[in-house]
Amino acid sequence: MKSVYSPNLQVFNESQLKKLHKIIDTPALLIIEDRLDRNILQMQTLADENYSWLRPHIKTHKSADIAHRQIILGASGITTAKLSEAEIMYEAGVDDIFIANQITHPLKINRLIILHSQCRVIIGIDNEQQIELLRPAFQKTIKPLEVRIEIDSGFSRCGIKDNKALLNLAQKIMAEPWLLLEGIFTHAGQVYSASTETEVAKIGEAEAKAVELAHTFLHKKGIEVQTVSVGSTPTAKYSVRNDAVNEIRPGNYVFYDGIQLTLGSARAESCSLFVLATVISQPQKDQIVIDAGSKALGLDRGAHSMQLLTGYGTPVNIRATIERLSEEHGILKLDQAQIVELGSPVIILPNHACSVANLFEKYYLINEHLEMEMINISARKKSQ
Ligand SMILES: Cc1ncc(COP(=O)(O)O)c(C=O)c1O
Repeated sequence: MKSVYSPNLQVFNESQLKKLHKIIDTPALLIIEDRLDRNILQMQTLADENYSWLRPHIKTHKSADIAHRQIILGASGITTAKLSEAEIMYEAGVDDIFIANQITHPLKINRLIILHSQCRVIIGIDNEQQIELLRPAFQKTIKPLEVRIEIDSGFSRCGIKDNKALLNLAQKIMAEPWLLLEGIFTHAGQVYSASTETEVAKIGEAEAKAVELAHTFLHKKGIEVQTVSVGSTPTAKYSVRNDAVNEIRPGNYVFYDGIQLTLGSARAESCSLFVLATVISQPQKDQIVIDAGSKALGLDRGAHSMQLLTGYGTPVNIRATIERLSEEHGILKLDQAQIVELGSPVIILPNHACSVANLFEKYYLINEHLEMEMINISARKKSQ
């Protein structure tokens, strides 16, 4: 078990927190705007300094507003996991979208043709059967469908594992005039099981090496691709250094969270997303109950992580462990027995920002003057 509590997580002093809590009903999701903007800028700078495009994964924030902030600061487009996320982002004005996923359901293919006619959309592919599924819908379209072959760099999820299969799929794609082999991509999700920074670095280097080798192999066979894409928040700073890589797709870095802190991929003062909750009961002197349960904090204690986090989030303004959750209750064990005022605020760093954001309808964006703006989590629950 690992605790990620640090005084540097503190974002508001007591009176600022009370002031905010008076005007925000709870549970609520707060974004600290200057931290958010700094995170976006820092990742963009990392990409720029390494001559790479940044195509951030928006599954973390699922908000068109934040996607536009990323694009304004230099992102070349966005990455989504789902077609429905891509549709929402297109409606909000984003017109260059990589769906880093395989699309095989017939109803999705019908929707994909529409999106494809409206904006630039690229999809993932790792199996020649997918060509047959896409053919009836796309073979007569004027604009070819751009695809990127997914390479498995050790996560053992989707992706091509060997050169023979890679060449076979690339040649099959090249033989179809309605398809355009735009790139190759990988995601080293196994990094979330790493336990040291050295391991994270090794996984990041291996992630880049896997696409570098695939790229070189295709080149030797006379097949050129435009984009060589890698992506995860912890590996970005390692994989981007490889000269073959020309695109990174981190997502979580806009917020960071408890999991990123356990991996050493973020500093406490970079965390920008917090759940604001209210104390509703104090059954014992060392226990309080808040109005945020599993429907606000999620049950995630480290997605694939070997180092389970202590509790279901990290309370920042009171030293305590979130020991148990019901759907709408969080049960906190206080480090020190004390009387806690009912109705007082508790601010919590979520363990996993991406899954927590998906549970809420809106963010309360707080600027340095404690002014507040509400922004929609427009693609929340979009999983089809
Ligand atoms: C294909 C793909 N690319 C990029 C990312 C972004 O990684 P992270 O959440 O570490 O920022 C993910 C995350 O799941 C992913 O699946």
